[in-house]
Amino acid sequence: MNRVVAADAAGLRRAAELLRQESVCAFPTETVYGLGAHAFSARAVAEVYRLKHRPSWNPLIVHVATTAEAEALAHEWPPAARLLAERFWPGPLSLVVERAHHLPANGGPPTIAIRVPAHPVALALLRECGLPLAAPSANRSESISPTTAEHVIRSLPDVPLVLDGGACRLGIESTVVDVTVSPPRLLRPGALSLRAIRDVVGALQLPGSAEAAPEVRSPGLAHRHYAPRARLRLVDDPAALAEGSDPGTVGILTHLPAAAEGAHVELLSADPLEYGADLYAALHRLDDAGVATILAQHPPHGDDWLAIRDRLTRASAQ
Ligand code: TXA
Ligand code: MG
Repeated sequence: MNRVVAADAAGLRRAAELLRQESVCAFPTETVYGLGAHAFSARAVAEVYRLKHRPSWNPLIVHVATTAEAEALAHEWPPAARLLAERFWPGPLSLVVERAHHLPANGGPPTIAIRVPAHPVALALLRECGLPLAAPSANRSESISPTTAEHVIRSLPDVPLVLDGGACRLGIESTVVDVTVSPPRLLRPGALSLRAIRDVVGALQLPGSAEAAPEVRSPGLAHRHYAPRARLRLVDDPAALAEGSDPGTVGILTHLPAAAEGAHVELLSADPLEYGADLYAALHRLDDAGVATILAQHPPHGDDWLAIRDRLTRASAQ
Protein backbone atom coordinates (compact mmCIF):
# COMPACT_ATOMS: atom_id res chain seq x y z
CA MET A 1 0.00 0.00 0.00
CA ASN A 2 1.17 3.53 -0.74
CA ARG A 3 2.74 5.07 2.35
CA VAL A 4 2.18 8.68 1.26
CA VAL A 5 -1.53 9.36 1.45
CA ALA A 6 -3.75 12.39 0.93
CA ALA A 7 -4.85 14.05 4.16
CA ASP A 8 -8.52 13.41 3.41
CA ALA A 9 -11.01 11.68 5.71
CA ALA A 10 -9.74 8.20 4.79
CA GLY A 11 -6.10 9.23 5.24
CA LEU A 12 -6.80 10.81 8.62
CA ARG A 13 -8.64 7.69 9.79
CA ARG A 14 -5.78 5.45 8.75
CA ALA A 15 -3.24 7.70 10.47
CA ALA A 16 -5.28 7.93 13.67
CA GLU A 17 -5.66 4.16 13.76
CA LEU A 18 -1.88 3.68 13.50
CA LEU A 19 -1.36 6.16 16.33
CA ARG A 20 -3.91 4.46 18.57
CA GLN A 21 -2.12 1.15 17.90
CA GLU A 22 1.07 2.75 19.31
CA SER A 23 2.69 2.97 15.90
CA VAL A 24 3.91 6.24 14.30
CA CYS A 25 2.88 8.44 11.40
CA ALA A 26 4.32 11.56 9.78
CA PHE A 27 2.09 14.59 9.30
CA PRO A 28 2.44 18.19 8.12
CA THR A 29 2.58 21.18 10.43
CA GLU A 30 2.94 24.83 9.46
CA THR A 31 6.66 24.63 10.33
CA VAL A 32 8.00 21.24 9.16
CA TYR A 33 6.66 17.68 8.96
CA GLY A 34 6.54 15.88 12.29
CA LEU A 35 6.90 12.20 13.12
CA GLY A 36 3.92 11.68 15.43
CA ALA A 37 3.46 9.15 18.20
CA HIS A 38 1.21 8.80 21.25
CA ALA A 39 3.24 10.98 23.60
CA PHE A 40 2.73 8.77 26.65
CA SER A 41 3.13 5.36 25.06
CA ALA A 42 6.62 4.10 25.80
CA ARG A 43 6.37 1.78 22.81
CA ALA A 44 5.31 4.46 20.31
CA VAL A 45 7.91 6.93 21.56
CA ALA A 46 10.64 4.28 21.36
CA GLU A 47 9.70 3.76 17.71
CA VAL A 48 10.20 7.48 17.04
CA TYR A 49 13.70 7.39 18.54
CA ARG A 50 14.52 4.22 16.61
CA LEU A 51 13.31 5.48 13.22
CA LYS A 52 15.06 8.84 13.64
CA HIS A 53 18.26 7.42 15.18
CA ARG A 54 17.68 10.10 17.77
CA PRO A 55 19.75 10.01 20.96
CA SER A 56 17.51 9.12 23.88
CA TRP A 57 18.55 12.16 25.95
CA ASN A 58 16.86 14.55 23.52
CA PRO A 59 13.21 15.04 24.62
CA LEU A 60 10.27 15.49 22.21
CA ILE A 61 7.73 18.29 21.77
CA VAL A 62 4.17 17.26 22.59
CA HIS A 63 1.45 18.54 20.24
CA VAL A 64 -2.12 19.08 21.40
CA ALA A 65 -5.22 20.63 19.80
CA THR A 66 -6.10 23.23 22.46
CA THR A 67 -4.53 25.35 25.17
CA ALA A 68 -6.72 23.59 27.74
CA GLU A 69 -5.15 20.24 26.80
CA ALA A 70 -1.71 21.83 27.06
CA GLU A 71 -2.45 23.15 30.55
CA ALA A 72 -3.52 19.68 31.64
CA LEU A 73 0.00 18.40 30.86
CA ALA A 74 1.64 21.11 32.99
CA HIS A 75 2.19 21.16 36.73
CA GLU A 76 1.96 24.92 36.61
CA TRP A 77 0.82 27.29 33.87
CA PRO A 78 2.73 30.51 34.51
CA PRO A 79 1.41 33.93 33.44
CA ALA A 80 3.89 34.09 30.55
CA ALA A 81 2.51 30.78 29.23
CA ARG A 82 -1.02 32.13 29.40
CA LEU A 83 -0.10 35.32 27.54
CA LEU A 84 1.97 33.59 24.88
CA ALA A 85 -0.57 30.81 24.28
CA GLU A 86 -3.39 33.34 24.01
CA ARG A 87 -1.50 35.35 21.46
CA PHE A 88 0.33 32.72 19.37
CA TRP A 89 -1.51 29.39 19.55
CA PRO A 90 -2.26 27.68 17.31
CA GLY A 91 1.15 28.56 15.90
CA PRO A 92 4.92 28.02 15.66
CA LEU A 93 5.76 28.40 19.36
CA SER A 94 6.70 25.59 21.78
CA LEU A 95 6.48 26.33 25.50
CA VAL A 96 8.61 24.50 28.05
CA VAL A 97 6.74 24.20 31.35
CA GLU A 98 6.96 22.03 34.46
CA ARG A 99 5.57 18.60 33.65
CA ALA A 100 2.37 17.49 35.44
CA HIS A 101 3.34 15.00 38.13
CA HIS A 102 0.87 12.34 37.02
CA LEU A 103 2.60 11.97 33.64
CA PRO A 104 5.09 9.15 33.10
CA ALA A 105 8.55 10.71 33.25
CA ASN A 106 10.51 7.83 31.70
CA GLY A 107 13.75 9.26 33.00
CA GLY A 108 13.24 12.44 31.00
CA PRO A 109 13.47 16.04 32.26
CA PRO A 110 11.01 17.42 34.87
CA THR A 111 9.77 19.77 32.15
CA ILE A 112 7.73 19.25 28.99
CA ALA A 113 7.71 21.16 25.68
CA ILE A 114 4.21 21.66 24.28
CA ARG A 115 2.71 23.32 21.24
CA VAL A 116 -0.62 23.72 19.46
CA PRO A 117 0.22 23.58 15.75
CA ALA A 118 -1.63 25.79 13.24
CA HIS A 119 -1.80 23.40 10.29
CA PRO A 120 -5.36 22.21 9.57
CA VAL A 121 -4.17 18.63 8.92
CA ALA A 122 -2.22 18.51 12.19
CA LEU A 123 -5.24 19.78 14.11
CA ALA A 124 -7.59 17.37 12.31
CA LEU A 125 -5.27 14.47 13.15
CA LEU A 126 -5.02 15.48 16.81
CA ARG A 127 -8.82 15.58 17.02
CA GLU A 128 -9.29 12.34 15.09
CA CYS A 129 -6.91 10.30 17.25
CA GLY A 130 -7.70 12.08 20.51
CA LEU A 131 -4.11 11.67 21.74
CA PRO A 132 -1.36 14.14 22.64
CA LEU A 133 1.24 13.57 19.92
CA ALA A 134 4.96 13.72 20.47
CA ALA A 135 6.32 14.90 17.15
CA PRO A 136 9.93 15.73 16.41
CA SER A 137 10.78 16.79 12.88
CA ALA A 138 10.33 13.75 10.62
CA ASN A 139 13.94 13.38 9.56
CA ARG A 140 16.88 11.27 10.54
CA SER A 141 18.61 12.83 13.55
CA GLU A 142 21.00 15.66 12.59
CA SER A 143 19.87 15.89 8.98
CA ILE A 144 17.66 18.48 7.27
CA SER A 145 14.09 18.83 8.49
CA PRO A 146 11.42 17.86 5.93
CA THR A 147 9.09 20.43 4.42
CA THR A 148 7.38 18.04 1.98
CA ALA A 149 6.06 14.46 2.21
CA GLU A 150 8.74 13.39 -0.24
CA HIS A 151 11.50 14.72 2.04
CA VAL A 152 10.09 12.55 4.85
CA ILE A 153 10.21 9.36 2.78
CA ARG A 154 13.76 10.09 1.68
CA SER A 155 15.00 10.76 5.20
CA LEU A 156 12.98 8.00 6.92
CA PRO A 157 12.49 5.24 4.33
CA ASP A 158 10.90 2.92 6.91
CA VAL A 159 8.19 5.34 8.07
CA PRO A 160 4.84 3.48 8.01
CA LEU A 161 2.70 6.40 6.79
CA VAL A 162 2.96 10.05 5.72
CA LEU A 163 -0.08 12.31 5.52
CA ASP A 164 0.59 14.58 2.56
CA GLY A 165 -0.34 18.19 3.23
CA GLY A 166 1.83 19.76 0.54
CA ALA A 167 4.77 22.05 1.31
CA CYS A 168 4.98 23.55 4.83
CA ARG A 169 4.15 27.26 4.88
CA LEU A 170 6.88 28.42 7.28
CA GLY A 171 9.63 25.86 6.65
CA ILE A 172 11.55 26.56 9.89
CA GLU A 173 10.85 24.80 13.20
CA SER A 174 8.93 26.39 16.05
CA THR A 175 10.55 28.84 18.44
CA VAL A 176 11.13 27.11 21.81
CA VAL A 177 10.70 29.25 24.93
CA ASP A 178 11.22 28.13 28.54
CA VAL A 179 8.55 29.78 30.70
CA THR A 180 9.58 28.07 33.94
CA VAL A 181 11.92 31.01 34.52
CA SER A 182 11.30 34.74 34.65
CA PRO A 183 11.93 36.43 32.31
CA PRO A 184 11.26 33.57 29.89
CA ARG A 185 14.29 32.11 28.15
CA LEU A 186 14.73 31.46 24.44
CA LEU A 187 15.90 27.86 23.92
CA ARG A 188 15.70 27.66 20.13
CA PRO A 189 15.12 30.56 17.71
CA GLY A 190 12.47 29.59 15.18
CA ALA A 191 9.59 30.58 12.98
CA LEU A 192 8.08 32.96 15.53
CA SER A 193 10.20 36.11 15.80
CA LEU A 194 11.75 37.43 19.01
CA ARG A 195 10.05 40.75 18.37
CA ALA A 196 6.62 39.11 18.44
CA ILE A 197 7.45 37.33 21.71
CA ARG A 198 8.94 40.40 23.38
CA ASP A 199 5.84 42.39 22.44
CA VAL A 200 3.88 40.03 24.68
CA VAL A 201 6.21 39.19 27.58
CA GLY A 202 8.64 42.10 27.60
CA ALA A 203 12.11 40.79 28.36
CA LEU A 204 13.43 37.50 27.04
CA GLN A 205 16.67 35.80 28.12
CA LEU A 206 18.79 34.84 25.14
CA PRO A 207 21.26 31.96 24.97
CA GLY A 208 24.67 33.29 25.86
CA SER A 209 23.28 36.41 27.51
CA ALA A 210 24.55 37.34 30.96
CA GLU A 211 21.31 36.34 32.73
CA ALA A 212 21.10 32.93 31.11
CA ALA A 213 22.64 30.23 33.27
CA PRO A 214 25.19 28.62 30.96
CA GLU A 215 24.48 25.08 32.12
CA VAL A 216 20.80 25.25 31.16
CA ARG A 217 20.40 24.47 27.50
CA SER A 218 17.85 22.90 25.28
CA PRO A 219 19.15 19.38 24.79
CA GLY A 220 18.43 19.59 21.07
CA LEU A 221 20.87 22.46 20.60
CA ALA A 222 23.61 20.03 19.78
CA HIS A 223 26.21 21.65 17.59
CA ARG A 224 25.75 19.67 14.39
CA HIS A 225 22.16 19.59 13.24
CA TYR A 226 19.99 20.41 10.24
CA ALA A 227 22.89 19.31 8.06
CA PRO A 228 22.80 18.30 4.40
CA ARG A 229 24.93 15.42 3.09
CA ALA A 230 27.23 17.90 1.40
CA ARG A 231 29.67 19.87 3.52
CA LEU A 232 28.20 23.31 4.13
CA ARG A 233 30.46 26.34 4.55
CA LEU A 234 29.24 29.80 5.53
CA VAL A 235 31.17 32.35 3.48
CA ASP A 236 31.12 36.01 2.45
CA ASP A 237 31.57 35.59 -1.28
CA PRO A 238 30.46 32.18 -2.55
CA ALA A 239 30.84 33.03 -6.25
CA ALA A 240 34.50 34.03 -5.81
CA LEU A 241 35.24 30.87 -3.83
CA ALA A 242 33.47 28.67 -6.37
CA GLU A 243 35.57 30.10 -9.20
CA GLY A 244 38.18 27.69 -10.35
CA SER A 245 36.62 24.65 -8.70
CA ASP A 246 34.76 21.97 -10.64
CA PRO A 247 31.27 23.52 -11.01
CA GLY A 248 29.65 20.11 -10.71
CA THR A 249 30.93 19.62 -7.18
CA VAL A 250 30.04 23.00 -5.67
CA GLY A 251 26.60 24.35 -4.84
CA ILE A 252 25.82 27.96 -3.94
CA LEU A 253 23.11 29.10 -1.55
CA THR A 254 22.53 32.84 -1.50
CA HIS A 255 19.99 35.63 -1.25
CA LEU A 256 22.14 37.97 -3.40
CA PRO A 257 21.49 37.80 -7.15
CA ALA A 258 25.06 39.00 -7.80
CA ALA A 259 26.50 35.91 -6.11
CA ALA A 260 24.28 33.55 -8.07
CA GLU A 261 26.69 32.17 -10.62
CA GLY A 262 27.63 28.57 -11.09
CA ALA A 263 26.16 25.24 -12.07
CA HIS A 264 24.17 24.56 -8.91
CA VAL A 265 22.78 27.76 -7.52
CA GLU A 266 19.91 28.25 -5.12
CA LEU A 267 18.95 31.91 -5.17
CA LEU A 268 16.59 32.44 -2.25
CA SER A 269 14.53 35.50 -1.36
CA ALA A 270 16.10 38.45 0.48
CA ASP A 271 12.99 38.42 2.69
CA PRO A 272 13.68 36.26 5.76
CA LEU A 273 10.21 34.68 5.86
CA GLU A 274 10.39 33.63 2.23
CA TYR A 275 14.02 32.55 2.62
CA GLY A 276 13.10 30.41 5.63
CA ALA A 277 10.17 28.81 3.82
CA ASP A 278 12.48 27.61 1.04
CA LEU A 279 15.74 26.93 2.92
CA TYR A 280 15.40 23.20 3.68
CA ALA A 281 13.96 22.43 0.23
CA ALA A 282 16.94 24.24 -1.32
CA LEU A 283 19.38 22.18 0.77
CA HIS A 284 17.56 19.01 -0.29
CA ARG A 285 17.84 20.09 -3.95
CA LEU A 286 21.57 20.73 -3.62
CA ASP A 287 22.02 17.31 -2.03
CA ASP A 288 20.04 15.78 -4.91
CA ALA A 289 22.36 17.52 -7.37
CA GLY A 290 25.19 15.56 -5.77
CA VAL A 291 27.45 18.50 -4.86
CA ALA A 292 30.21 17.80 -2.35
CA THR A 293 30.29 21.33 -0.95
CA ILE A 294 27.64 23.98 -0.41
CA LEU A 295 28.93 27.54 -0.17
CA ALA A 296 26.27 29.44 1.74
CA GLN A 297 26.27 33.22 1.76
CA HIS A 298 26.24 34.58 5.33
CA PRO A 299 22.67 35.73 5.96
CA PRO A 300 22.13 39.35 7.05
CA HIS A 301 22.37 40.45 10.70
CA GLY A 302 19.29 41.27 12.74
CA ASP A 303 16.64 39.40 14.69
CA ASP A 304 14.54 38.56 11.65
CA TRP A 305 17.34 36.33 10.38
CA LEU A 306 18.18 34.77 13.76
CA ALA A 307 16.58 31.35 13.15
CA ILE A 308 18.10 31.11 9.68
CA ARG A 309 21.59 32.04 10.96
CA ASP A 310 21.15 29.46 13.73
CA ARG A 311 20.21 26.65 11.31
CA LEU A 312 22.98 27.48 8.82
CA THR A 313 25.56 27.68 11.59
CA ARG A 314 24.53 24.27 12.90
CA ALA A 315 24.43 22.83 9.39
CA SER A 316 28.02 24.00 8.92
CA ALA A 317 29.35 22.52 12.17
CA GLN A 318 31.78 19.66 11.70
O1 TXA B 1 8.28 23.09 14.59
C1 TXA B 1 8.59 22.19 15.39
O2 TXA B 1 8.83 22.40 16.58
C2 TXA B 1 8.61 20.75 14.82
C3 TXA B 1 7.20 20.38 14.41
C4 TXA B 1 7.07 18.96 13.93
O3 TXA B 1 6.30 20.67 15.43
N1 TXA B 1 9.15 19.85 15.79
C5 TXA B 1 10.47 19.86 16.13
O4 TXA B 1 10.83 18.90 17.04
O5 TXA B 1 11.27 20.64 15.64
P1 TXA B 1 12.34 18.48 17.34
O6 TXA B 1 12.25 17.28 18.21
O7 TXA B 1 13.08 18.31 16.07
O8 TXA B 1 12.91 19.65 18.19
C6 TXA B 1 12.46 19.82 19.52
C7 TXA B 1 13.35 20.74 20.29
C8 TXA B 1 14.68 20.09 20.57
O9 TXA B 1 15.68 21.09 20.46
C9 TXA B 1 14.52 19.59 21.99
O10 TXA B 1 15.74 19.45 22.66
C10 TXA B 1 13.67 20.69 22.59
O11 TXA B 1 12.77 21.04 21.56
N2 TXA B 1 12.93 20.20 23.76
C11 TXA B 1 11.98 19.25 23.81
N3 TXA B 1 11.56 19.07 25.07
C12 TXA B 1 12.26 19.93 25.86
C13 TXA B 1 12.30 20.22 27.26
N4 TXA B 1 11.52 19.59 28.13
N5 TXA B 1 13.16 21.16 27.69
C14 TXA B 1 13.95 21.83 26.82
N6 TXA B 1 13.97 21.60 25.48
C15 TXA B 1 13.14 20.66 25.01
MG1 MG C 1 14.53 18.22 14.50
